[in-house]
Parts: sequence; structure tokens; C-alpha cells
Amino acid sequence: MKPNRLVLALLPVALLAGCASAPSAEKQAAMADEARKTAGGLIQTLGGELKAAMTTGGPANAIGVCKEKAPQIAAEAAQRTGMKIKRVSPKNRNPKGVPDAWETQALADLDKRLAAGEKPETLDTWAVVDAAGGKEFRYAKALVTQPVCTNCHGPAENLSPEVKAKLAAEYPDDKAIGYAPGSIRGVLSIRKPM
Ligand code: HEC
Repeated sequence: MKPNRLVLALLPVALLAGCASAPSAEKQAAMADEARKTAGGLIQTLGGELKAAMTTGGPANAIGVCKEKAPQIAAEAAQRTGMKIKRVSPKNRNPKGVPDAWETQALADLDKRLAAGEKPETLDTWAVVDAAGGKEFRYAKALVTQPVCTNCHGPAENLSPEVKAKLAAEYPDDKAIGYAPGSIRGVLSIRKPM
């Protein structure tokens, strides 16, 4: 009798542990799909805003889009989806844009896959990881440098004097220059508890 009762008593614990350790493949796939859609939407919206600001006032005018609009657009999407969203880079401009260990590994993987010939538009990666409160879904989408990006992230000689002056004033610790088109500028990083 006793062992049976023990087994029964432990069953819910075992089931719970099972749930926590392995979210179903369907749930993971659905989460990846949602992250991909959210990232795609954000990139499109931000790209549109950037283009519009560049056309009206050139790159110096568009700095405000990257500074204020990007976090604002991300915050709106975060509220809608319950995801945490940020942009990070090993050579960050925003002092808060430093990648953590998972993001650093993701960046290294994405760089390798890009070098191996994968298409930049669809270059992303995701994983379910252990976090303090349980399992967490993590997603990273490569933000690949396009010619337009080099106005503000390219080699120093690509940057206009106005852009240089504005960046120096607003980002004294800026590391985000020297990028050539086709290289990964950073990642859009998304996380959500599972
Ligand atoms: C008009 C200037 C400008 C252009 C053009 C521009 N950026 Fe930025 N970018 C910035 C600024 C300013 C920041 C810092 C924003 C902030 O304060 O969070 C930034 C930040 C970033 C970040 C966040 C990581 C970091 O370094 O802080 C990424 C990633 C990024 N840009 C990618 C791109 C990509 C990819 C393109 C081209 C599609 C691009 N940017 C075009 C000015 C620009």
C-alpha cells in the first residue's frame, strides 16, 4: 500500500515537472511563428519610418527615428504580445544594447550561417531555455546592414559631418560604426516566459 500511495502522491509533481521541462513541440513552433511575425512587422514599420525621415531631412534628421521611434514601436508590440523586445549588438550604440550570453551565442551562429550562404532576410534562431521563473522562449533575428544603414553605421568616411556631430553629442560611447553592407549589425531579440 505504502509505495502505491507514494507513487500517486508524486504523480502530479512528476507531471508538472514534465510540463515545465518540455513545452510541446506545437507550442514551441507557435511561439517561434509569433516571434517571427512580430519581428517582421517591427522591421517593416521601422524601415518605413526611417526611409520617410531620410527622404524629408536626410540621415541627421532620421537619427531621431532610431532613437525615439524604434523603442516606441518595440514597446507597442511588446504590450500587444507580452514579449520583451530589444535590439542588441556587440558594437552597440545605445549603452543598453549589450548582448547577454544567449544573444552572443545566437549572433555567432547567425554570422556563421550568413557566411555559409543563408539568405539574410530569413536569418533567425530560437530556443527554449531555463530561466529564473521556469522555461523561457528566446528568439533572435539578424539585422543585416543594408546600404542605407551605412549613413549612420558605415565606415567613418560614409558619415556626414552632421551625423558625426549628432552621434558624438548623443552617444559619446558609440561603437556602432564600421559596418559594410551585408554584415550583421545586431539582432532583434525577443523573449517570453513559456
Ligand atoms: C539615421 C541614422 C541611422 C540609420 C540610417 C540606421 N541607424 Fe541603426 N541606430 C541609429 C541610432 C541613433 C541608434 C541608437 C538608438 C537608440 O538610442 O536606441 C541605432 C541603433 C541600432 C541598433 C541597436 C543596437 C545598438 O547599436 O544600439 C541596431 C541593431 C541598428 N541600429 C541597426 C540598423 C540597421 C540594420 C539599419 C539599416 C536598415 C540602421 N540601423 C540604420 C542610427 C541609425
